[in-house]
This record gives sequence, C-alpha cells and structure tokens, in this order.
Amino acid sequence: MNRRLGVLISGRGSNLQSIIDAIGSGELDAAIAVVVSNRPEAAGLARAREAGLDTVVLRPTDFATRDEYDATVADVLLRRDVGLVCLAGFMRLVGPPLLNAFPNRILNIHPSLLPAFPGLEAAAQAIAHGVRVSGATVHLVTADLDDGPIVLQAAVPVRDDDTESSLATRILVEEHKLYPAAIAKVLGGRWRLDGRRFVADRS
Ligand code: GRF
Repeated sequence: MNRRLGVLISGRGSNLQSIIDAIGSGELDAAIAVVVSNRPEAAGLARAREAGLDTVVLRPTDFATRDEYDATVADVLLRRDVGLVCLAGFMRLVGPPLLNAFPNRILNIHPSLLPAFPGLEAAAQAIAHGVRVSGATVHLVTADLDDGPIVLQAAVPVRDDDTESSLATRILVEEHKLYPAAIAKVLGGRWRLDGRRFVADRS
C-alpha cells in the first residue's frame, strides 16, 4: 500500500506528534505527505511546521456546503498522492466525497473501547457510567460517528480515584503507542474485511 499519509487535525495534535515521532524513530515505515487542519489556530499545525511538514488550513466557513468542503479536502490529499488518511483529533464527521475518495483508507482514533462511549468527552462518559476498564480504539472510518471496523484497541483500567482528567491522560498515553501501531498494521496489507471485522488475510 502507498505509505504516504494525510493527517487531519483540529487541535492539540499530540497524536500527530506520535506519528511524526514513530516515523522518525523508524518504528513506522511511512511519510506524512500533508497535515490538514479545519482550524487555523490548531496547536498541531505548529508541531507539523516544526517537523518541516506541508500544512493546509481549510476552514469550513469558507465553503457553501459540507460536500464542497469534503471534496476539497479529498482533492488536497489526492494531489499529494496520499494512500492513507489518519484523523487525529479531527472534529468533523467525514462525508461521502472524502469517504468515496479513500474507501477503507481512512483511520480514526477514539479515547474509549468502542462501541462504548462514542462522541465527545469519552473519558467523562466512562467515569459517569462507572466502567472498570476503558481505553482507546483505532478504527476504519465509515459514514457513522466513531463506527467502522476496529483495527486495534488498548485497555486502560479505571481507578477508584480517577477523574475525567486523570483517566483521559492515561488513555492518551496509550493512544500515542496505539495509533502508530495501527497505521503500520493497515499499511502492511494482508488484511481484509469480513463484515465489520478487520481480519488478517491468510490467503
Ligand atoms: C484524542 O483523544 C483522540 O482520541 C480524539 O481526539 C483527541 C485528539 O488529541 N479523537 P490530539 O489533538 O491528538 O492531541
């Protein structure tokens, strides 16, 4: 598979940093072709520039429709010959123009053991529900929020004295190991989808 990544961010960019670092250390055999942000103030853009990466800011308010926005993101990625799109804290639903341009080639990371606690504030949801184990999930992106075939997950025990903040911090540490590993797994090929299961291909 084409190992050129397009990373989409909206904020802090700590997962982007984990991908940059994993490529730098040789743990992940890939290259970041472009970092796209929907917010000009995203702190992750500074991380990308620091690493010498190409950055593009596309503000949704500059587009008439969601489809036009997504088609432009797809165009930016296709022009740079991106093979795999990695959502890294990208706070937008991905629509048909982008999904169709990269079928089963868009990944997302989410701070819970999906299908538990999709959406915003996953650590707060986990604390409020009282689960004893939460974690992080990397999955292929579909039209539905935080859905799609699961590539890898990591469990994080919930402690009696955890707050949303302390749990979110420990989950983030796991995310930073999980995302590069999941990207490597997808780029390595030899997998297929069996319904919604992501399975190693033995043939
Ligand atoms: C992470 O918790 C990720 O799982 C979620 O959004 C957060 C992004 O953090 N999708 P960062 O911008 O990568 O630091």
